[in-house]
Amino acid sequence: MVNSVAIFSGKGGVGKSTIAAALAQLSDSTLLDCDPQLSVSDWGDRRGSSPLVIATQLGRVPALLQQHKKIVIDTPGALVGNVITALQSVDLILVITSDRQLEIDALPATLQVASQANKPTAVLLNRLHPLTDPRSVFEILQAFDATACPVVIRERSAHYRAWTLGKTAAEYQPDGDAAHEVRQLWNWIQETY
Ligand SMILES: Nc1ncnc2c1ncn2[C@@H]1O[C@H](COP(=O)(O)OP(=O)(O)O)[C@@H](O)[C@H]1O
Ligand SMILES: [Mg+2]
Repeated sequence: MVNSVAIFSGKGGVGKSTIAAALAQLSDSTLLDCDPQLSVSDWGDRRGSSPLVIATQLGRVPALLQQHKKIVIDTPGALVGNVITALQSVDLILVITSDRQLEIDALPATLQVASQANKPTAVLLNRLHPLTDPRSVFEILQAFDATACPVVIRERSAHYRAWTLGKTAAEYQPDGDAAHEVRQLWNWIQETY
């Protein structure tokens, strides 16, 4: 059973905060905001309900893990030194990328840092165009020796429309495709790790 997940990428704009908030809400986990940009904290301020969002620092993650049973961590969009402290203390590192070349090019550096933590690591393909076949990207991930999450999250407007309202896609459109994908993702995580 996975009680703690770090959402990780050395690149900004890949969807870390979006996925972190979506998974925290779905699993009713405490959401640790370790990004100085405070995206999920701003999002949390627009909500009146769970998940609990705590703005903190990467070095505080081990202590906070002792105090909260279920945790999702949003990490900074840069490969900062003490990210390893946080990555080492979780059950699963979920690396986020899209299929765009700029993001694929940044992936080896992210994977290299993740590997130093010695924890189960999977790569989630996010913002995939609704018509794109993910298999070609899975091949690239295989060449990087990375474990690909078979569930992909596609580019869907529900994610950013929901964000404006302080919601997740699953709350905004519970029967929508975006909600379905996020639920599938959480189920895959729980069944696999
Ligand atoms: N699956 C998705 N579909 C549509 N838009 C998305 C998706 N994931 C992220 N976005 C959008 O992409 C942008 C960057 O996402 P964000 O979560 O802030 O990335 P990061 O935290 O990695 O910098 C935001 O505008 C967000 O709404
Ligand atoms: Mg972010």
